[in-house]
Amino acid sequence: MSLSVSSSDAFSLRFVNRVFVTRELPEKVMAPLRHEHDVTTWDGDGPVPNDVLVSEASTAEGLLCMITDAIGLPLLDRASHLRVISQMAVGVDNIDIGECSRRGILVGHTPGVLTETVADSAFALLGAAARRLFEGEREVRSGKWGPWEPFHLTGGDLHDTTLGIVGMGRIGRAIARRATGYEMRVLYSSPARKDLDDADHVSLEVLLAESDHVVLSASLNDATRGLIGASELRLMRPTAYLVNVARGPLVNTVDLIEALLSGWIAGAALDVTDPEPLPRDHPLLSLPNCLVVPHLGSASVRTRNAMAALAVENLIAGLEGWSMPAAYSTAG
Ligand code: DGY
Repeated sequence: MSLSVSSSDAFSLRFVNRVFVTRELPEKVMAPLRHEHDVTTWDGDGPVPNDVLVSEASTAEGLLCMITDAIGLPLLDRASHLRVISQMAVGVDNIDIGECSRRGILVGHTPGVLTETVADSAFALLGAAARRLFEGEREVRSGKWGPWEPFHLTGGDLHDTTLGIVGMGRIGRAIARRATGYEMRVLYSSPARKDLDDADHVSLEVLLAESDHVVLSASLNDATRGLIGASELRLMRPTAYLVNVARGPLVNTVDLIEALLSGWIAGAALDVTDPEPLPRDHPLLSLPNCLVVPHLGSASVRTRNAMAALAVENLIAGLEGWSMPAAYSTAG
């Protein structure tokens, strides 16, 4: 931290903090941060290399980071000045939250602003998977579009079906609201029962067995890692589609491949995978009944701008000692 005296007003004193930002963000969003603090931004291609991140964090008071940045002990042990971490995402599974709270480092994230966009994505993926749009699109592009056939690429309906939502936080609620418009019956499983009129709380087992489609919208933590494995996939209907808009490691990838190959479920649409990114020759990518997109759940222009702006607001607030608009809390 350094003390700055404004040249236009000798009586205006303010503390300038050193801030590291791990991706280039729109200048309009960054301006308030640059105005107040000494900002360095990683401007290389892709995520900042870990050694650069650790070295920059070692002299920074504030960090604005992404889900691709590992904020664990190797970084925190060297970051003796770090007071505020602001993540441009709602999920914070790349951050060692326990260690941050032990060290008194504030963590902010970006819930709320992305809720509706991720729920839109869940329905886009569900529609594309259940109605086999991606298989049809591949067929057209590869020159295999033949004459219309009565039962060619027939899939499942969305309307008048049962949707199972795993995880009933903000995004789960927004998915459930959309499901009502499709006249779906909604089941959900989550550690706590919520006071909801339009969705029934059931066990994960009941949800998997009774749902025509299952959407994962739970956060990744010790309790949810590997939540969906072989025995859960076997409980699902052979006509069911699985959509993941949460985090890849909620699902055991090897078991999912088995389920898709063996017909335990009809198909999957994955916005997130484990590992991520998937290597080009990954078995999931050779399965016709699996749609994979590269973690685009919140990727609308408006929402990504809102996420960046909230991440900047959180960082400025934390550095100034004000309460953050969206501090991360394990209470959700
Ligand atoms: C999040 O916010 O956690 C998403 O996965 C990134 O958009």
